[in-house]
Amino acid sequence: MPRDNKTPLIHKIAKQAYTTFKDFKPEANRDNNLVPDRHADLVSLVTAIRAADLKIPPRKSKPSPGAAGPQNPPVTYMHICETDVFSMGVFLLRSGASIPLHDHPGMNGMLKVLYGKVSVRCFDKLEDPLTGSLPEFEPPLAPPQTASVRRSVLRSVAEYSESSGPCLLTPLRDNLHQIDAVDGPAAFLDILAPPYNPEDGRDCHYYKVLHNVGEEGAGGGSREEEKEQQEEREEIWLLEVPQPEDFWCGGEAYPGPAVSF
Ligand SMILES: [Fe+2]
Repeated sequence: MPRDNKTPLIHKIAKQAYTTFKDFKPEANRDNNLVPDRHADLVSLVTAIRAADLKIPPRKSKPSPGAAGPQNPPVTYMHICETDVFSMGVFLLRSGASIPLHDHPGMNGMLKVLYGKVSVRCFDKLEDPLTGSLPEFEPPLAPPQTASVRRSVLRSVAEYSESSGPCLLTPLRDNLHQIDAVDGPAAFLDILAPPYNPEDGRDCHYYKVLHNVGEEGAGGGSREEEKEQQEEREEIWLLEVPQPEDFWCGGEAYPGPAVSF
């Protein structure tokens, strides 16, 4: 197969994202019906993308004069493209900024760091009859009567940098995450498929970690084993909350190769 070095990598990624996700049908309690080879091809293209491919200069640890301040957003977003099948853009985090814990209902996702380093904590919601109602114990905070509390599990905590492969999420696996900039500013390419669409049941919800659920791992093993098991599968309650006041996302022009469909 002839190599195509003239087409910008972001164009190839957009085309492959469309091919990968165009037949995706969200189904309750069932994960992806994606073609694995297409998904693997997309992962390998996304793994190769760098900030320079998108003409985004890495930002310095110390913001330029006038750039810092409470009036400026901690996170900005560069929109690259959006179709019914997927959306793609770049999130830029200031030093010390976080994208609070949020979900991607019925969606697949791919996050690839372009510069800096981020820590990503991924959670899964657990199927539970208590979903949507309050748990039996008294939570440490008194949630309002309408609170939505979810039983969840911490699935992974990992750091990603430019040389890392993408962090992946699916409708059922690693679907909730919190993203923190580590040791300075950071930016990542973000692909979501299908895109958020509140009219189609895909709105973004924010969550606060309330409580560890119970004695998972207690009983049989040694303290060490219990600790390991707990780290692998730490059950928690998540309380749905409004978008945190200290988080908001501004817009920024995307300077890279234009992508259109
Ligand atoms: Fe996200």
